[in-house]
Amino acid sequence: MSTARNVSVPGDKSLSHRALMFAALATGRSTVRGILPSADVMHTAGVLRRLGVDVPATWSADETLEIVGRGRRGLRQADVDLDCGNSGTTTRLMAGVIAGHPMRATLVGDASLSRRPMRRIARPLTQMGAAFSFVADDGLPMTIQGGGLRDLDWISPTASAQVKSAILLAALVAGCSARVQEPTRSRDHTERMLSALGAPVIVTEDAVLLGPVDVLAPLDFDVPGDPSSALFLIAGAVLRGEPLEIRNVGVNATRIGAFAVLERMGVALTLANERQSGGEPVADVHVAPCAGLRGVDIGGAEIPSLIDEIPILACLAARAEGETRIADAAELRVKESDRISAVVTNLRAIGANADELPDGMVIRGATVRLTGPVITRADHRIAMAFGVLGAVPGNAITIDDPDCVSVSFPGFWAMLNDLEAGA
Ligand code: S3P
Repeated sequence: MSTARNVSVPGDKSLSHRALMFAALATGRSTVRGILPSADVMHTAGVLRRLGVDVPATWSADETLEIVGRGRRGLRQADVDLDCGNSGTTTRLMAGVIAGHPMRATLVGDASLSRRPMRRIARPLTQMGAAFSFVADDGLPMTIQGGGLRDLDWISPTASAQVKSAILLAALVAGCSARVQEPTRSRDHTERMLSALGAPVIVTEDAVLLGPVDVLAPLDFDVPGDPSSALFLIAGAVLRGEPLEIRNVGVNATRIGAFAVLERMGVALTLANERQSGGEPVADVHVAPCAGLRGVDIGGAEIPSLIDEIPILACLAARAEGETRIADAAELRVKESDRISAVVTNLRAIGANADELPDGMVIRGATVRLTGPVITRADHRIAMAFGVLGAVPGNAITIDDPDCVSVSFPGFWAMLNDLEAGA
């Protein structure tokens, strides 16, 4: 049996955005190691810089950033539009931060981001007292007049950590309290980080409650590796039938629903060296050589914990024995691309058998050679998912826009090539 290669992945994207924002709002100097140096996170840094925070324009994966916070309501109004690039997390979370400040700001982004729904955050933030205006029906550009907020009790129709976090951040900045109830628990990084920094947070089965905050303590935080990025490398190892060890991966239960799906598909995954870091669970992930995959049903309450992993799970399903049915995932239609359409169209373009459902897809696995062109729609996760399939010996897949992976996983192609070459 071959020995497992040992790699690590860049820092978690969700945690990197939040670490920058909380450091900016804290009182005192924060120290954060391993912030993901990707385009999305750099857009959060750019927006914070425009609002008066001294954050570097760029940094490397192993760098330690020291950020002096401006205090809970210490950001200052910018005299230019705030460019969020391709990043939904930058837009929606910073909309909450801005809404809490007595300032006016216009958020803009690229074509993909401009099409994504923003009224889902405008609705609760308007109820808190902020004013929103849109140029088009929904989406960007979006102008916010913040300040003068009041407490909110919000029942969210969708399980969205971005909506939940926008509300919690607005309440944090304004010194209000907020309760957010969700149909299913979305990723809980914001409430964990708030709690770790001394904010009064109560978490119940279906809701989060934040009490008024006076001063936010600075962070001292090591960003763990991104489990969403790790999944692409795990999938590559599974398809090559090789073992792999990925060190220092975030294993927060609200993020790793895909691990349970992989186990149902026949992959043996184990977590070693489990520990807590800054309120987040972290571990080394071991993948045993996989002899073959089987099709599974994916849906229900597990969807929010694996929503970003559906493109790669669908690509694995194309190599599994039997049918995989993914349901309850209509949210995929409003991600960086319509990921139901993008995944199914591209699977068909390379010779796999798949159909769209209104809220998911059906994939019928086979071992045929997969060849042909993939159109990413400028969506990083589509590029990486099909890149992994393309790296399987015998397949020949071309990706129209490989550079779009820089949004979340700089260095992805080099790492995939190294693993493929056994380097
Ligand atoms: C994220 C939340 C999720 C996820 C996105 C990152 C976050 O989006 O898909 O990639 O960091 O809060 P939703 O909140 O829209 O579900």
